[in-house]
Amino acid sequence: MRAAAFTELIGPDGVDVVEQPTPDPGPGEALVDVDACSINHHDLWILNGASAMIDPTDLPFVSGLDVAGTVSEVGEGVTGVEPGDRVVLCPNETCGTCRFCREGPENLCENYSLYHGGLAEAACVEASRLLPLSDDVDATTAAALPTAYLTAYHMLRRADLEPGDLLFVPGATGGVGVAAVQLADVLGVRSIGTSSSASKLETLSTLGADHTIQGTDPDELRAAVEAVGRPDAVVNHLGGVYTGLGLDVMRRGGRMVVCGRTAGPTSEIDIASLFRSHHRVIGSTMGTQADLERLVDLVASGDLSPRIDRTVPLDETGDAFATMRDRDTLGKLVVTME
Ligand SMILES: NC(=O)c1ccc[n+]([C@@H]2O[C@H](COP(=O)([O-])OP(=O)(O)OC[C@H]3O[C@@H](n4cnc5c(N)ncnc54)[C@H](OP(=O)(O)O)[C@@H]3O)[C@@H](O)[C@H]2O)c1
Ligand SMILES: [Zn+2]
Repeated sequence: MRAAAFTELIGPDGVDVVEQPTPDPGPGEALVDVDACSINHHDLWILNGASAMIDPTDLPFVSGLDVAGTVSEVGEGVTGVEPGDRVVLCPNETCGTCRFCREGPENLCENYSLYHGGLAEAACVEASRLLPLSDDVDATTAAALPTAYLTAYHMLRRADLEPGDLLFVPGATGGVGVAAVQLADVLGVRSIGTSSSASKLETLSTLGADHTIQGTDPDELRAAVEAVGRPDAVVNHLGGVYTGLGLDVMRRGGRMVVCGRTAGPTSEIDIASLFRSHHRVIGSTMGTQADLERLVDLVASGDLSPRIDRTVPLDETGDAFATMRDRDTLGKLVVTME
């Protein structure tokens, strides 16, 4: 089978299409003919050599978490899926025995990890992590959901939002950002989204953003957000200076949910302001398989249409990562196998 492998951790130029043996599914596993796999900033961190998640000496590495396709073979003991089933993968890998696996939520698993290997013609995965797709949900759409929409949905749940609340999303045009804006709209939550690009914001307005602000300077953004109102919650996937910005603008008792650090791995927090404002800062990673089931249902019912910037063939995976690096995307990039 062909795979778009990371052969050097030097950014998008380190992606090469290589031939690899097709894996045999072991007990509890299923082999999926991959139709589509979306890419995430998570993969780009790995490709840039900036992720602790993989061993940098163990190359080539096939990344790709968000797999959708058709089951071609199942291993011993698999009962939930069979060859011919159309499926999407929940990329959570959990131990099944720790207290969080027993009592939930599973994404707090003490041995939590993620599946990698979807940027290939076939993917060997844990069968119990596959969700069935109805005919209403095509593979490209399904592949857009697992990491970005799952993370955003779980963050909105953690933010305890109610209809009519106001959500602030700094950097609202990438995978997690667009997902947060679209899902807020589904939940009846109003949103403010920002971007460096005016043209991206025009499109974001059509995807459910109630207010858009162009800019990256925290002081300018602070004034513009305050002119709209004090958000009840912030989805923060940027970190860096945007953590302080979010805390400054949130209303008393507001919740900031943090999942990323694209703009910087550390943030300064004014402690006195934090406790006087009764703010909550909440870390969050991915979501639960039940969250992903809910998202697949929302797509099947027509209530959610994930924003796909473009699809690219496997051979152009490196170019797709360059587009993400250059911030030249709005929504998800999906690699499809022709
Ligand atoms: N913990 C988890 O479970 C989890 C899950 C998913 C993602 N994440 C993390 O969340 C972050 C977002 O992931 P993603 O896949 O959505 O990424 P993405 O698609 O690359 O995000 C692009 C967005 O980030 C903005 N942006 C990029 N670099 C920026 C910078 N230096 N300063 C300000 N804004 C910047 C872009 O703004 P413009 O519109 O101005 O271009 C755009 O709105 C990543 O750090 C990722 O690792 C974590
Ligand atoms: Zn566990």
